[in-house]
Amino acid sequence: MRIVITGASSGLGEALALYYASNENQLVLIARREERLADVAARCRKKGAEVETILADVNDFGRMQEIGRGVSEKGVDRIILNAGVSVGHSGGVTPFEDFERLFKTNFLSVHALLEPIIPKLMEKKSGEIVFISSLASLLTMPTSIAYSSSKRALNAYAEGLHYQLKAYGISVMTIMPGFIDSEMTQKNRFKMPFFMTTEVGIRRITDAIKRKKIRYAFPFRFALMIRIVSTLPQSLRDKIVHFTNFKKGD
Ligand SMILES: NC(=O)c1ccc[n+]([C@@H]2O[C@H](COP(=O)([O-])OP(=O)(O)OC[C@H]3O[C@@H](n4cnc5c(N)ncnc54)[C@H](OP(=O)(O)O)[C@@H]3O)[C@@H](O)[C@H]2O)c1
Repeated sequence: MRIVITGASSGLGEALALYYASNENQLVLIARREERLADVAARCRKKGAEVETILADVNDFGRMQEIGRGVSEKGVDRIILNAGVSVGHSGGVTPFEDFERLFKTNFLSVHALLEPIIPKLMEKKSGEIVFISSLASLLTMPTSIAYSSSKRALNAYAEGLHYQLKAYGISVMTIMPGFIDSEMTQKNRFKMPFFMTTEVGIRRITDAIKRKKIRYAFPFRFALMIRIVSTLPQSLRDKIVHFTNFKKGD
């Protein structure tokens, strides 16, 4: 299987690359940090995988389209859109620059890369597109407006793509994890409920991909709590969000 993974130099992307590294798979790993990516690639090769690394900033949309054309020429069986950034704010108005950066990285870059790939998948009538969204897409805390908005936009995009591509035999999956140990969460200076090790997080994600889950939010109890809160009258939701008041660092 030929698997493309964005953001493969650390965290979930690195762990996914290592999970899929075997002599049955060819991996295409994309990220900016050269040494980190080369190290991940070397460990994947040791496990028998054929690996191509591509150094790129996903915010360079022209380059993303070029990469999309390149990888689709050789064929893609599964693409995992994982590259992402977060930014938390302890107070005040979210700076526009943060909104711009998060929407570019977490959302717009995704279609820049997929635009040339999707027609090829439609032609061959198979393939898997996996989006790494977040539980934060389901409930927006006042301290993560930009991050939640970018991930919710991603969910909307993924939903439409699922309806569009289902008839072509293409699986579009949206994975919404809670807090998992990674460079991203190591920066957080607030208590992270239902925190998971990378190993547990990756097991859940890869299992959901294996089962071709269209939407998968986890861990179950945290996802359920968020879903229940979403159904409550607004006045109650206001109280719960105020009470929870996660303190996020900048
Ligand atoms: N960890 C969690 O608790 C959690 C929960 C929900 C969702 N997520 C999502 O999971 C995904 C992976 O995050 P993580 O937790 O594994 O964080 P991470 O360790 O910080 O990894 C982020 C990855 O994205 C890449 N990336 C970031 N900006 C990029 C850019 N402009 N161009 C190319 N690559 C870029 C980074 O590579 P370079 O810096 O080398 O470019 C890195 O490989 C993100 O989409 C995140 O929103 C994480």
